[in-house]
Amino acid sequence: MASEFKLAPSILSADFADLQTALTQCEEGGAHWIHVDVMDNQFVPNLTIGPPVVKSLRPKTNKFLDVHMMVIEPEKLVEPFAKAGANLITFHIESTDDPQSVIDLIKSTGTQVGISVKPYTPLSDIEPFYDQIDLILVMSVEPGFGGQGYIDESTERIQAIRQKLNEMCLQDRVLIEVDGGIKLHNAKEVIDAGANVLVAGSAVFGTEDPVQTIKDFYNLGNQ
Ligand code: DX5
Ligand code: ZN
Repeated sequence: MASEFKLAPSILSADFADLQTALTQCEEGGAHWIHVDVMDNQFVPNLTIGPPVVKSLRPKTNKFLDVHMMVIEPEKLVEPFAKAGANLITFHIESTDDPQSVIDLIKSTGTQVGISVKPYTPLSDIEPFYDQIDLILVMSVEPGFGGQGYIDESTERIQAIRQKLNEMCLQDRVLIEVDGGIKLHNAKEVIDAGANVLVAGSAVFGTEDPVQTIKDFYNLGNQ
């Protein structure tokens, strides 16, 4: 598990006027992925990043760009984010009546596909799609804002998904990513529950030394 653990710092908590510094810190700290939180002020009560920002980030880094769409009508943004250079596009199961068509659309762009689930949405809503996707994004806070506290019940949900993926023999094909309230003090619990990728926003960019904090996360994961 330790060797597979990846950190995805969320630039939501970085300085939007200086995203180059955030990218450099991710490079220097050795973060595997960059998590991009896309909010439309409709699915969630906040407004953030669109495809032009991803397009500007793309030539500045070789890191895997992990786009988390918290938007209604996700199908309208799939191609723009794919063209902008996203490596993986995740949509929310709660944001569409037709998840299958969104999965098919993302796949048609050649981009990896993720499905996200809010903290109180039944896991049975996403289970039918496990064998078609690359990643399950488990929200451990209500989506919309960085800096919230980890919802403790999330750990059991991660364990349940891990168990289900094992039962379905999908453990090598589908990653579990956890997003919200991840800090140095609870990262180990989340990894032990079965997460492969941890998103950390305020825990990285809200600290004095984001580079060292990224390294500290990896040291924890490797213990
Ligand atoms: C919340 C976003 C998260 C957010 C996490 O809706 O999806 O990615 O950046 O921030 P922290 O790590 O501060 O909880
Ligand atoms: Zn996110």
